[in-house]
Amino acid sequence: MNTIDQIDSIITSALSDLESVHDADGLEQYRIKYLGTKGAVKNLTTLLAQVPREHKPALGQKINTAKAQVTAAFEARKVVLGSQVSATGPLEDVTLPGAQPQLGNRHILMKVADELTDLFARMGFTVAQGPELEDEFHNFIALNIPPSHPARDPLDNFYITSGVDHQGQQPAQEQQLLLRTQTSTVQIRVMQSQKPPIRVVIPGRVYRPDTHDDTHLSQFHQLEALVVDQNVTMVDLKSTVLQFVKAYFGAQTQVRFRPSFFPFTEPSAECDVWFPEKQQWIELGGCGMVHPNVLQACGIDPQVYTGWAFGFGIERIAMRKYGINNIRLFVENDVRFLRQF
Ligand code: DAH
Repeated sequence: MNTIDQIDSIITSALSDLESVHDADGLEQYRIKYLGTKGAVKNLTTLLAQVPREHKPALGQKINTAKAQVTAAFEARKVVLGSQVSATGPLEDVTLPGAQPQLGNRHILMKVADELTDLFARMGFTVAQGPELEDEFHNFIALNIPPSHPARDPLDNFYITSGVDHQGQQPAQEQQLLLRTQTSTVQIRVMQSQKPPIRVVIPGRVYRPDTHDDTHLSQFHQLEALVVDQNVTMVDLKSTVLQFVKAYFGAQTQVRFRPSFFPFTEPSAECDVWFPEKQQWIELGGCGMVHPNVLQACGIDPQVYTGWAFGFGIERIAMRKYGINNIRLFVENDVRFLRQF
C-alpha cells in the first residue's frame, strides 16, 4: 500500500469508528486512539520520513487535511452527544429511597419542663413567669434574706449593676440588679399581684457562679411551686410532693424529706428521691412553709393565710427520670445525646 492509500484507510476507519461512539467515555477513548500524542492520526507525520524529498510537501499537505478532517468530525460528534446528554438530563433512579430530611426536636429540658407544668396543671396549678434579670428586693429582701446572709455575697452572685446608675446616682440597695439565683423571686411577684387563694408553678432559668461538676452547673433550671390559702399546712406540702413524685417517676419511687433551713420558709425541708442508676439519693431541692415575714412583705396577712412552697432543680428531675448521670450532658449539645429524647 502506498502512503496516500495508507492515509486514506486511516481516515476511513477513523470516521467509521466515530459512528460507534455514544458517550463521554467513548469520546475520550477515541481521542486517545486517533488524536492523542501517540494516536493514529497524529502518527501520520512519521510517514514523511519514508518518501523522497520532492514528495514531502504534497504528502505534508495531505496529512494536514486528514488531521483537520478527523478533528472536525470528532468535534462535531462531541457537540451532538453533548446536546443529547443535556436534552435528556442525567438519568434518575426513581426506585431509590428519598433523602430523609433531618428533623430537629425540642431540648430534653424543655420537654421535661412542659411535662411538669402539665402534671401540676392537672392538680389545679396555673403557670407564672418572671424576669431572669432581677433586683435585690425580689431575689433577697422580700424573701427574708438579711444583708449579712452569705447568699448575698458578691462572689456568689452575678451582679449586673456597678454601683452607680446612668445619672451617676447610687441606686438603692433593693434596686441593685443581678441574674436571679432562684425562681423564688417569682413567688414575690405573684403574691404582689394576686390575692389568695394562690396555686402556681414557675419554671425558669437561674444563675450561680458555681464550679461545674456531675450535678452542678452555673446556669440551670428550677420549678418553683407556691400555694397560699387559709388552713394550708405542711401536710398539704408533703402530700402534693409525694403525689408529684409518684406520678412522674413511678409509684415505687422512694422519697425522703430532711430538715433544713431557708430564710423564706419555716419549717424548711430538703427533698430527695432515690436514684437507682447511681444507687444514691439525689436532691431535688428545698421546700417549706412560707415564712410569715414573706407573706407580710407582699401584703398578705399571715394571721389569716398560710402557704407552702418548693423549688426543685429541673435538671435533677430530668436526670432521675431518664437515668442521666452527668448534668453537663444537657449543655454539651451532643446530638447523639439530644436525639434520644
Ligand atoms: N430557692 C431555694 C434554692 O434555690 C429552694 C427553695 C427552698 C425554694 C424552699 C422554695 C422553698 O420555694 O420553699 O435553693
